[in-house]
Amino acid sequence: MEYRPLMEFRGVEVRYQAEPALIDVSFRIEEPAFTVIVGPNGAGKTTLLKTALGLVKPTRGRVVVLGVDVVRHPWRVRRMVGYVPQRERIDQTMPALVRDVVLMGRALRRPLIGRLSDEDREAALRALERVGLSDLWDAPFAHLSGGQQQRVLIARALAAEPRLLLLDEPLSGVDAASQEVIVSLLADLARSGVGVVMVTHDLNPVLDCADYVLLLNKRLIAFGRPAELVEPDLLSKTYGKDVKVFRMGTQCFVISGDAHA
Ligand SMILES: Nc1ncnc2c1ncn2[C@@H]1O[C@H](COP(=O)(O)OP(=O)(O)O)[C@@H](O)[C@H]1O
Ligand SMILES: [Mg+2]
Repeated sequence: MEYRPLMEFRGVEVRYQAEPALIDVSFRIEEPAFTVIVGPNGAGKTTLLKTALGLVKPTRGRVVVLGVDVVRHPWRVRRMVGYVPQRERIDQTMPALVRDVVLMGRALRRPLIGRLSDEDREAALRALERVGLSDLWDAPFAHLSGGQQQRVLIARALAAEPRLLLLDEPLSGVDAASQEVIVSLLADLARSGVGVVMVTHDLNPVLDCADYVLLLNKRLIAFGRPAELVEPDLLSKTYGKDVKVFRMGTQCFVISGDAHA
């Protein structure tokens, strides 16, 4: 089979008006893995995901996702990629049932509005099972906890059976127990062959599960295995301030001046 890395950025620059949001970013994620992009607010994390989806155009460089040039063929990429955007963009008063939200993931991949088939329903139910919430098929979405809502939104993306899943801050506004459920769910997905790229400003919940970590602050600070990157100097460079790393046995914990690192 033709060799196709999951995601490749080569010398990518993105500018909004004159301000650069990404500067000379290059990396390559070879195979389906659980990759976590970490950086402070304004580091360009959301911009990086949007660039990978062709929603933002690089002013320099090349972006290839699943072997496809995103600038030339954004729709070919978007058909293969699931996207879970940052949550403030979702209306929490949405009067929908969980199943409607998940089925939307099937409807969105159609070029024209058509009737949903049994196959669509089965795929949606499978996706909800995958996030461990099939019991909530008929529940009102607005009644769910923040963590459950986030899992339903992940199921919505999975319902389209993507080869790559991009998630923007899926752990923010989610309690610690749900964070753990979400992180291990994403690690399982990656093991089953779906590429997962997740953005977070908080490294701690993902340290044990991530296959790769990419440290970003407009520039790429480092890309590698989490154990190699949990170094005070690299993390301080990423966050632009002092970061301390505490180790307890195999556990390790990152603390910065504020509660966000
Ligand atoms: N649509 C936009 N227009 C102008 N500037 C933007 C836009 N989106 C993001 N930016 C700026 O680009 C920088 C990176 O933003 P973003 O990618 O959202 O970072 P992060 O997700 O890491 O917080 C920030 O300085 C932000 O203000
Ligand atoms: Mg962001």
